[in-house]
Amino acid sequence: MTANISQNLLDWYDKHARDLPWRNPPGASLPNDPAWPYRVWLSEVMLQQTTVAAVKPYFVKFTETWPDIAALAAASDEEIMAAWAGLGYYSRARNLAKCARDVASRGGFPRTEEELRELPGLGAYTAAAIAAIAFGERAVVVDANVERVVARLFGIEDPLPVARKAIRERTDAITPARRAGDFAQAMMDLGSTICSGKAPRCLLCPLSLACEGRKAGEPERLPVKPPKKAKLERTGTAYWIERDDHVWLVTREGTGMLGGMRALPDDGWTARKDGSGEPPLSGEWENVGAVRHTFTHAHLTLSVERNANEAAPSGSGEWWPIECLEDAGLPTLFAKAARLALAKD
Ligand code: ADE
Repeated sequence: MTANISQNLLDWYDKHARDLPWRNPPGASLPNDPAWPYRVWLSEVMLQQTTVAAVKPYFVKFTETWPDIAALAAASDEEIMAAWAGLGYYSRARNLAKCARDVASRGGFPRTEEELRELPGLGAYTAAAIAAIAFGERAVVVDANVERVVARLFGIEDPLPVARKAIRERTDAITPARRAGDFAQAMMDLGSTICSGKAPRCLLCPLSLACEGRKAGEPERLPVKPPKKAKLERTGTAYWIERDDHVWLVTREGTGMLGGMRALPDDGWTARKDGSGEPPLSGEWENVGAVRHTFTHAHLTLSVERNANEAAPSGSGEWWPIECLEDAGLPTLFAKAARLALAKD
């Protein structure tokens, strides 16, 4: 039965695999290209908490700019953070830079899950995915798509996160010794194109005859999710300070929220929960509206104030030409705030 499941899935993948820029064609042997593990690693880090559609253009841009691990390791943190702007979860970009340098200095990627786990930014999922996809190691790869497919296939009724242990054991039981990388990606494709969250397309599913969730009649119920925590509501203010076609940008401190990214100065809403700090400059401010942005744990309403006096801002920062603002690598929140300020001209 378990052998049938993996074989049916691989047969389906051979016909229906999505053609993605980081992928090897189904069934092909591992590419003989020294940059192959680099490409798999980069794609898997980008795909953590991010959709395939959002990742594609970033993957293409990164691999054109930095075609291999040595090139990325030689790039500055600033360049990497700016290229990552808009993709979100910026700690990934900080770890990406560190990891590239670690891997380049040790002469290449390790190939086992255990060693991969030790690299910056690689958790259980990513280490397993790279071991399987880049190196063909048999590894048990469980992401949210795989969780959904396996919970339904085996009718696992426990709610998440309790169900994770059973899901992992069942995934282990159906993971083949050969083609573990194709198998993992086939599960992901099945999860995102057929066994989708709300409206699974069971008639097209290669595993439907074996699927307990389908037999019980309501596969979309599984996996049972814990109740969602309400997100916090936060407020803050960002400042648009403009002189002679330049805008004042700061680089955010540390490793916290948006740390290391260029940004408009703000009133400290990240540290304070609600912004109540001082503007970086005294004088007249004009409110140009507010932008909404959702982070993992909170919704933020960020007011945007524009300055109209001649004093110099306090603290460190740089005057950035407004004409080239696209190149500053502003994260989405501040790009939205900048658009609002510019729309008022
Ligand atoms: N999500 C995470 N890794 C993926 C991959 N290799 N292919 C498609 N979706 C993914």
